[in-house]
Amino acid sequence: MQKSLRDQKNMSLKKLLDKDKIPKHIAIIMDGNGRWAKSKGMPRVFGHKEGVKTVKEITEVTAKLGVKYLTLYAFSTENWKRPAYEVNALMSLLVNTIDKEMETLMKNNIKLEAIGNIEELPSKSYKSLLKGIEKTKDNDRMTLVLALNYSGRWDVLNAAKSIMKDNFQGDIDEKIFKSYLSTAAYPDPELLIRTSGEIRLSNFLLWESAYSELYFTEINWPSFKEESLYEAIYEYQNRERRFGKISEQLKK
Ligand code: IPE
Ligand code: IPE
Ligand code: MG
Repeated sequence: MQKSLRDQKNMSLKKLLDKDKIPKHIAIIMDGNGRWAKSKGMPRVFGHKEGVKTVKEITEVTAKLGVKYLTLYAFSTENWKRPAYEVNALMSLLVNTIDKEMETLMKNNIKLEAIGNIEELPSKSYKSLLKGIEKTKDNDRMTLVLALNYSGRWDVLNAAKSIMKDNFQGDIDEKIFKSYLSTAAYPDPELLIRTSGEIRLSNFLLWESAYSELYFTEINWPSFKEESLYEAIYEYQNRERRFGKISEQLKK
């Protein structure tokens, strides 16, 4: 059977990837749903619905590549400031998607988890999220972490509060501090992607991204496809991660 041009492009890009250097943790700021919809003369919410399709595709592709953690920024603590109808639409989309995609997560052996102040989500969204987390808890191929009602500053502040509440004695080092963050169980992301051309972190993983390779693409989230991910990983693999050292020290 003749392969489509897209399939051929995917295959060749995928072939260029070094299988031994696939990031363990990829974090993505899924941005540009609204602008994508607007460019098509459609309402913003249509862009969010289309964005869910990308979530599905990228989740399956990352799992196949052997990525262990995929963290997706789905709703920030600042996103409550949006018009109520958009917030409501996003919250119902969350419930519907989790309910609908449970089978795919089970089939692909993917565990669902969440970071953020999820208790303050509308109760329907919160319940369906907890149900999804519970149902997939024994899956172990990849963990899909949804950042919901999340912000980096919220998390750092929360960690500081918990440390005080614990009446922590002794010296607090980075390892101890990290253990109080909502991301305690995950390694820091090696690669952090933001779509839609915005070049900022918007309060995402502030502590954890200290040494992440940042990758920005003009592509809006609903148009971000399998090959867009391969391109990002390819660029990541060709960066030199020095962690403060000089180039010569790394080649030893
Ligand atoms: C990202 O797309 C999704 C969420 C923040 C929930 P946006 O809704 O921010 O889309 P733009 O940036 O306005 O185009
Ligand atoms: C960041 O996108 C939050 C999510 C992707 C969930 P925003 O679209 O809210 O970010 P700003 O407001 O442009 O910085
Ligand atoms: Mg945006």
